[in-house]
Amino acid sequence: MYIGWLCAGWSGHRGHGFIHGHDRRVAGWQGQRLDRAPQLCGAHSGSSRKNSAAGLSDGNNWRVKLIKLLHFEKLQPLCPRCRQAGGSNSSLDIRSISKKTHDTVIEGVLVCTNRECLGEYPIIDGVPIIVADLRTYVSQNIISIMSRSDLSETTESLLGDCCGPGSAFDSYRQHLSTYTFDHYGDLDPAEREDSPVVPGSVLDLLKAGFSEMGERVDGPAIDAGCAVGRTSFEMAKTVDDLVLGVDLNFAMLRTASLVLLEGRVVYPRRRVGIAFDKREFPAALEGASKVDFWACDATCLPFGDESFSLAASLNVLDCVQSPFDHLKELSRILKPYGGAVFSAPYDWNVNATPVEAWLGGHSQRSESQGASEIMLRSILAGGEHPHAIQELELVYEAEAVPWSLRLHNRSFMKYLVHLLVLRKKPQSSQP
Ligand SMILES: C[S@@+](CC[C@H](N)C(=O)[O-])C[C@H]1O[C@@H](n2cnc3c(N)ncnc32)[C@H](O)[C@@H]1O
Repeated sequence: MYIGWLCAGWSGHRGHGFIHGHDRRVAGWQGQRLDRAPQLCGAHSGSSRKNSAAGLSDGNNWRVKLIKLLHFEKLQPLCPRCRQAGGSNSSLDIRSISKKTHDTVIEGVLVCTNRECLGEYPIIDGVPIIVADLRTYVSQNIISIMSRSDLSETTESLLGDCCGPGSAFDSYRQHLSTYTFDHYGDLDPAEREDSPVVPGSVLDLLKAGFSEMGERVDGPAIDAGCAVGRTSFEMAKTVDDLVLGVDLNFAMLRTASLVLLEGRVVYPRRRVGIAFDKREFPAALEGASKVDFWACDATCLPFGDESFSLAASLNVLDCVQSPFDHLKELSRILKPYGGAVFSAPYDWNVNATPVEAWLGGHSQRSESQGASEIMLRSILAGGEHPHAIQELELVYEAEAVPWSLRLHNRSFMKYLVHLLVLRKKPQSSQP
């Protein structure tokens, strides 16, 4: 079976610095065909809850101080492997903590409480990795997980030259460059004000969606496909509760986590070709105490039904392996009356999504003529569509909203996205 193209998703947009020849090769490295990998589980069948959060909290009041535990305890993540296997809701526990600061678990292990499973999920650099197929995830993200940030710009550039264009290292740096510029470039004192590409494009999409939602949100929020996380911090301004940013790109999550833990942005900003400048600047963001970042799959979220009051999915639909499963998951985890801000450039790419799973973008002979926005509307309208999602209603939409990404000093990509605001119907109006 095909296991998810864990990282191909984020190289999905051809314009994201992977135009022409490169993207296929990069995705091939990241998402080889793999038979179902054995899970890391049961390694400690004699596990006790001695070292669990519950155990450690006895006599220690650090528990209430830990941001991660606030999220962990309130959001109660479920074992994704148990969910995928049979839909059972097994909770996770904290097995061990190897490193922590006064308020955050930096390194540790979560474990499934189902004794038939005992699946383990690591917390690395403050980011818990809660994905069903951990072994595939780790093997595909090992460069990001093990990468170091202490090397000088000079050494990094030498290594970049050695690896060359189209390499995994090049791909890693280009993604960080493009998304970190858009999310945090407004805070970078070195960013020229007369630059032809203005950062903050994704924030504008989020704000446009929020302006149609109105009231403040009471209840937890999830930012699916948060990348380097600025939108999660922005959501924290609107939400009187916790915000969780989830993504599958470990390098981007680590960048987000650094902002959260140290109030600092560090990233390679692409100048041209494989020449990058190391940028570093402070980023003290309002509401940071409410935010956390986890590695989770937006098509198989490790949360119970109706866990969140607000969701954002910005430019993610055409980056996941199953757009339909992503929509279903958003619908499932939203509480009744919960809202979602949603945008999509419909820039379909087989490196991210098999053609069969695209919503539109093919079959122009059909009634929708292959238009993705028509397909999405018809799925959301419920009714006869085989993939109809009955629980969400479309409350607002705008066409051709600009979303720009910087590729390098002389290149940027402008998309015209479909922006939607969705609302979960109350139970009574569901058929
Ligand atoms: C085009 S980027 C958009 C990022 C961000 N929302 C923005 O608009 O700036 C798509 C993001 O979705 C993430 N992604 C792709 N597949 C995913 C999945 N199955 N689960 C969670 N995130 C995923 C990618 O890693 C990437 O960060």
